[in-house]
Amino acid sequence: MTRIVYVDGQYLHHSLAGLHVEDRGTQFADAVYEVVAIRSGRPCHLDQHLDRLGRSLAALSIGWPVPRRVLPHIVAEVVRRNRLGDGVAYLQVSRGAAHRNHAFPADTPPSLVVSAWRQPGPSAVQVGQGVAVVTAPDQRWKRPDIKTVCLLANVLARQAAKEAGAYEVWLVDEARGVVTEGSASNAYLVDGRGRVVTHPDDGHVLAGITRCNILKLAAEAGIAVEERPFTVAEAMAAREAFISGTTATVLPVTRIDGRPVGSGQPGPVTLRLRALYQDLRPS
Ligand code: PDD
Repeated sequence: MTRIVYVDGQYLHHSLAGLHVEDRGTQFADAVYEVVAIRSGRPCHLDQHLDRLGRSLAALSIGWPVPRRVLPHIVAEVVRRNRLGDGVAYLQVSRGAAHRNHAFPADTPPSLVVSAWRQPGPSAVQVGQGVAVVTAPDQRWKRPDIKTVCLLANVLARQAAKEAGAYEVWLVDEARGVVTEGSASNAYLVDGRGRVVTHPDDGHVLAGITRCNILKLAAEAGIAVEERPFTVAEAMAAREAFISGTTATVLPVTRIDGRPVGSGQPGPVTLRLRALYQDLRPS
């Protein structure tokens, strides 16, 4: 597949596209990003992603690299040039390239990369049987609510999960003894009364766009939701568990640290939310 990537005003072949060696994203993880689902060539929930990108940029005092209203056109053009049907678009904005110095450089324009690629959603087997997660200490920096490329702790935890044969890792805040979220997804359980429980959006987790949309769908469907932290023991004793994210969509979790959750099969509340999310018209 031809891969065309947008970098700072140019649409370049993937093999020729690159950022400056002193880009602050590389040197300091001084960059933010978004991953947007593309379905039938159309971006899903792009406005919500751009809202969050705006919050991430503002939190780090990085300016918009181009006016916000231009970004949908760049995404559409990258999707078109790559003839992408279903997949993802990746947007990354860094503070730009400057001689290495921790403090912000003066008068340096932010850099923008937009790429897109084909990416299948979860397989029928993953949806039908659910996936396994393992738990690991949450060793991230203390602002996981900002969607930065500072992902090394997520990378190491996900690699350990992969080596343990699991699909995802659930990060455990050891000071509070609770599950925060996955390495690239939000985490949920369904309790004995059929209530969905997930960590609140209080700065300890990323406010997932999928999370936001499924909590809205749950409210509309009359499914009770409690936004509160839960422990690993609670999750293991739960009736159901699941994860959500742009790439994971809504995916049942049927094993935690090798032990079955509930019946060991995807549960009805999870599958209902998954169906509602699948039917949600992307905006
Ligand atoms: N990750 N939590 C974390 C730590 C994430 O990195 C993500 C998304 C989510 C879910 O957010 P959303 O529903 O907006 O995708 C939660 C993206 C997909 C990634 O890094 O690939």
